[in-house]
Amino acid sequence: MQLHVFNHVKNKKTTENTERRREFLKMKFPLYYQRVITESLRTYYPELGNNPVASPHLHKWIWELSEALRNENLYKQGMYYQQRELTAAYLAFLFPQSFMKINAILNELYSLNNTAFFEHDQYHIADIGCGIGASTFGTIEFFKAMKKDIVLHFDAIDYNKEPFELMREMSKDSNYFRNTNFAFIHNDIEKIASRSGRKCDIIILSLVLGEIESKISIIALIRKLMKHLTETGMLIIIEPALQESSKNLILLRNKLISYNVSILSPCLNEQPCPLTYSAQHWCYREIAWTPPASMEYLNRKLFREINTLKFSYLVIANNTRKGCRGGPMRPPNKIDANSDIPFQAEKELDLKNLYAFRAISFPKKQKGEYIIKACDSSCTIRVIELLHKDITDANKQFLELSRGDLFFLLDTALSEATIRLSSGTGIYNLQICKHLSPFIPRGSIK
Ligand SMILES: C[S@@+](CC[C@H](N)C(=O)[O-])C[C@H]1O[C@@H](n2cnc3c(N)ncnc32)[C@H](O)[C@@H]1O
Repeated sequence: MQLHVFNHVKNKKTTENTERRREFLKMKFPLYYQRVITESLRTYYPELGNNPVASPHLHKWIWELSEALRNENLYKQGMYYQQRELTAAYLAFLFPQSFMKINAILNELYSLNNTAFFEHDQYHIADIGCGIGASTFGTIEFFKAMKKDIVLHFDAIDYNKEPFELMREMSKDSNYFRNTNFAFIHNDIEKIASRSGRKCDIIILSLVLGEIESKISIIALIRKLMKHLTETGMLIIIEPALQESSKNLILLRNKLISYNVSILSPCLNEQPCPLTYSAQHWCYREIAWTPPASMEYLNRKLFREINTLKFSYLVIANNTRKGCRGGPMRPPNKIDANSDIPFQAEKELDLKNLYAFRAISFPKKQKGEYIIKACDSSCTIRVIELLHKDITDANKQFLELSRGDLFFLLDTALSEATIRLSSGTGIYNLQICKHLSPFIPRGSIK
């Protein structure tokens, strides 16, 4: 009886801590860019007045943009960018989301540090279908946080030239962007893919594949683009979290693995994806974040789900890239007890018997237990269970997992498709422990 009371109190405390942690660890849109958005709206759209977010015009334009994105004619090839009002709506409402998505992907790759990729002093990056540069700025912000004085060369490429004007305005702070060079290139993705030119460390295609009208197949286009990568370079594709987009991305991935392409993320293996596209399961990420206050204000009448970033994505590299083939990934061998992770004590991880998983669902509460579905390096979809009575400090991060998170289990048997965590099973969620050092190279787990 005493034990029962103790468990009840302990679980209540665990839930409260989980909530606090969740709130604290949410990604936040940088204040600097909140100001840049407001300033750019004021400068380019004087009709919105001094407080653009409060203007009924902007609300109306956001509504029109969401309608335009449903309209095939306006949607194709980014035609909405030819209407200046819709560009303002993109800036106020969609820019912050695209910004954070690329930032989250780069953060995870950095935490895993598969190669010496992040040790360069300068990077050449092509953001194809850049629009007003959400992914460009999200990437700059990532590199700024990672390493000071890194030099970035961006090719901002788009089929429409109209958004470049706004992007130029947003990058005019010569102090903030002192180490960043921008080249604005008005061209079609297919022409860019076919021509020869400087090799890139990163090529970004954020929310582009669904819009382009290409004479060649997407797979042929991607293969052409991959020839533009440096030996260690990577191509990052971001698509909506919709079932159809995610499925198309998986089909693309399944074809690419037969063409000597390495899958860096989100998969932990390079076999055909085991997901059958049922209504319940498809592969995408859901990251809780704190949207800018302006977005929350604008959403008061739109009622969109804006507190979670949802997207599907794929990070690929040429197979010639050394030391970064797909397969089991390792977390860092040490988790810093820095001020960003107040609840996380410094720990040395025992790397023996440590396995990586990608969550493809949220932890679901069932009678007496939580369960989650996750994919692993053997390309098996596992059901991972944690009984309420077995929740401890070692495994409580299980409850904080989100769809698409990469996590690691310590000391667990992998013989069955269903894994039951014990009270002693350690679990590390990379999304949560994201300020990590030192990093160890990825390779197969001995
Ligand atoms: C949804 S927007 C994405 C903008 C930005 N990448 C982001 O994530 O917010 C799609 C962009 O792709 C561009 N685009 C569409 N078709 C293109 C093509 N064939 N070649 C180059 N860019 C294209 C559009 O002009 C538009 O700017």
